[in-house]
Amino acid sequence: MNRLCTFAISLALLIGSAIAQVKLNVTAISARDGNSVIECWQLDNPFASSSKPGVAGCAIAQLGQLDNLTYTIVPSNYDGGLHVAPYKQWVFFASGVAHITVPDDSTEAYVKGGDFGLIFAADTADISRRGHKTEFPGNTETMGLQIPTRNGEVPPHSVVHAGACEESEMAGFRELAATGL
Ligand SMILES: *[C@@H]1O[C@H](CO)[C@@H](O)[C@H](O)[C@H]1NC(C)=O
Ligand SMILES: *[C@@H]1O[C@H](CO)[C@@H](O)[C@H](O)[C@H]1NC(C)=O
Repeated sequence: MNRLCTFAISLALLIGSAIAQVKLNVTAISARDGNSVIECWQLDNPFASSSKPGVAGCAIAQLGQLDNLTYTIVPSNYDGGLHVAPYKQWVFFASGVAHITVPDDSTEAYVKGGDFGLIFAADTADISRRGHKTEFPGNTETMGLQIPTRNGEVPPHSVVHAGACEESEMAGFRELAATGL
């Protein structure tokens, strides 16, 4: 069993925080009235404690049924143009930076690869006329994983606010690592 996670669990029990429900917040590109919008979503499914060997006792969040996985490398200063999401999909940026904007709306998202690199793209052609624009202004390449959900499912969520999630709204995993569930 992972020493840190074991320690985290006992600490959580000691301080009595075992019932706190922490949920993942992710920036999402959705659509309203046919226009893409950038929103901060909170996923309904809370973090749970893993029973799997290797990460036993660590915090895990189940993100749903998925279809396939595409590994994408985008060169620096690439302009992906205006496009709708090809499928309802998770995109995890592991490196680089993506700048996402939507037409006729000033909200924007700078998604840095790494800790805060997970977003959900839901603005498919059936709900968004023009989609969103993605540019990759970083001076390094951007590495991303694109993961469509099964049957076009959108993870159950509530909308926290319009616009991208702030890093401070996603940093709760650090606390989970430190104090457990
Ligand atoms: C990946 O999944 C999407 C969404 O279900 C599907 O449309 C696409 O054909 C799949 N791609 C491959 C290469 O299997
Ligand atoms: C998500 O946001 C809520 C408050 O809006 C916060 O309590 C929680 O810690 C956040 N989750 C993460 C993983 O940061």
